[in-house]
Amino acid sequence: MCGIIGYTGYARAMPVIIDGLRKLEHRGYDSAGIAIYREGELEINKKEGPLANLLADLEDNPDSCMGIGHTRWATHGVPSDKNAHPHTDCKGRIALVHNGIIENYASLRKELILEGHDFISETDTEVAAHLIEKFYRGSLETAVRKTVSYLQGSFALAVISRDDPRTIVAAKKGSSLVIGLGEGENYVTSDIPAILERASQLYILEDNEIAVITPDKVSITDFGGNPVEKEIFEVDLEPIAVEKGGYDHFMLKEIHEQPAAIRKTLQGWIKDGRVDLSALEFDEAFKNTRKIYIVACGTAYHAGMVGRLAIEKLARIPVETDIASEFRYRDILWHPDDLMIVISQSGETGDTLAALREAKRRGIKVLAVTNAVGSAAAREADRVIYTHAGPEIAVASTKAYSTQLVVMYLIALYLAEIKQNYDSEEISGLVNNMFYLDAMVEQVLKEQDKIKNLAEKYRDVESTFFLGRGIDYAVAMEGALKLKETSYIHAEAYPAGEIKHGPIALIDDGVPVLALISQDHLVDKAMSNIKEVKARGAVVVAICKENLQENCQECDEQILLPQVNPILAPVVSVVPLQIFAYYMALFRGNNVDTPRNLTKSVTVE
Ligand code: F6R
Repeated sequence: MCGIIGYTGYARAMPVIIDGLRKLEHRGYDSAGIAIYREGELEINKKEGPLANLLADLEDNPDSCMGIGHTRWATHGVPSDKNAHPHTDCKGRIALVHNGIIENYASLRKELILEGHDFISETDTEVAAHLIEKFYRGSLETAVRKTVSYLQGSFALAVISRDDPRTIVAAKKGSSLVIGLGEGENYVTSDIPAILERASQLYILEDNEIAVITPDKVSITDFGGNPVEKEIFEVDLEPIAVEKGGYDHFMLKEIHEQPAAIRKTLQGWIKDGRVDLSALEFDEAFKNTRKIYIVACGTAYHAGMVGRLAIEKLARIPVETDIASEFRYRDILWHPDDLMIVISQSGETGDTLAALREAKRRGIKVLAVTNAVGSAAAREADRVIYTHAGPEIAVASTKAYSTQLVVMYLIALYLAEIKQNYDSEEISGLVNNMFYLDAMVEQVLKEQDKIKNLAEKYRDVESTFFLGRGIDYAVAMEGALKLKETSYIHAEAYPAGEIKHGPIALIDDGVPVLALISQDHLVDKAMSNIKEVKARGAVVVAICKENLQENCQECDEQILLPQVNPILAPVVSVVPLQIFAYYMALFRGNNVDTPRNLTKSVTVE
């Protein structure tokens, strides 16, 4: 969602904040803004549109050593200059940036207006600036503390005042906030990678905490004013790679990084031909597991769909896969031996974290699968398995998905052994096959030009369908999501056998249908469904395994996949769909890496 960066120190603040904003842009790109302290004033610049719009007009401020910056993903109020953060009080004494949603903003705003405050924006955030103004008696910390007691919802706030050239006050509830510790300088941010090159020692704020940050000191208290002792959190992450490494877009670069990411994610978990997750020290929970809930959003949810099928098939444990925003309002029939697996690239997705917290509240063990070291999911779950995808910058997720799949297979294979519900030959065959996944993805990447040509051919269509049966349906869901996100074309995924129950009415001459055909035992059934749509004018592109090529002769086009084990097929079969989505976006002139209306990390409900 929105990105926050703040700096206080003895160096120039502006370059640090701009660099941070560049690394945060994927969190929100409908507007951006900066507030810098200078000679008793707060200089504020904010602009609608991508960060480049702000930077184009921004003059460096060589004297300033403190400031805050923000990239916005609009929730309350359209993207515009006036709705961009930072927001200020009536007198311009206080400036703040916010991530989250202040749920009771409407009533607070009404009261503040009656008390004489002038509002400029349509945002929920602005009430916080006016409340701080109301309570300010010379101590910013006291005013922020009083203010947060009035706020409902979620917030990460970074606040500065023109009365103090050195101090940032930060407060957190619900949305993440991290303090980076330097020598004679300190940082605050919503995302660790934004400051990673500058600070690897961090304080991670927990809910209901306030930090007072100066260049030489950080003091943390809870909302009640009690001091909080924090342990330093050391991060060992590669600094974020902001270069596209010769690719035109991060999305294409990240698609090509998948073989390496898969290798890295597998590393250390397979020993003597067996998956071994004993290092997690979670065997007891695995052994006792009666039922698993896999909870996630978007692409991560699609990885969970595959995880469910793999765990049920290999380990014979019942699994439910749930969309986090639905899960949190379901009446779950909890049992103490249930296990929850949350999947989240960012580890900060609001709905996913809410599900995790609900499970913990019920005494249920939670295993997190995330790409973000130190994220809320990583910290709050009982155990974490990291996907080693590296920083994913493109908003449309690609390498995070394939590495999430790899982790789901590791879990399924380990559970199969632990539960002793397995066919040992099948399991060792699969473990062996895992080592070839990277090479198989390499092979599919070589089909890039062919897929590019297909995208060129279909660039102007208005609607597409993605069909598959079994595990192929889960991949169809991901393929359709990718295409929607990047190309803005209507893309609908359906279980191939279900389309005749209604959606087939939408099939007309020339509608492209991308058919996933990687499941040997379902190929005949899938082909019957494909014939049904072909008979109604669809053009069918088969993404099919080499050995099933003969069965797919009647399809209009074929993209061939190597002969992968059917359970593992999603890692390979998703790749042509990612490339297709990439080129469709490109040919339609869209912003490939930052598609409209989206953000990389959805921290609000
Ligand atoms: C799709 C995409 C989103 C995310 C979803 C969950 O390309 O990126 O659908 O997968 O917002 O995000 P995480 O995995 O960070 O919880």
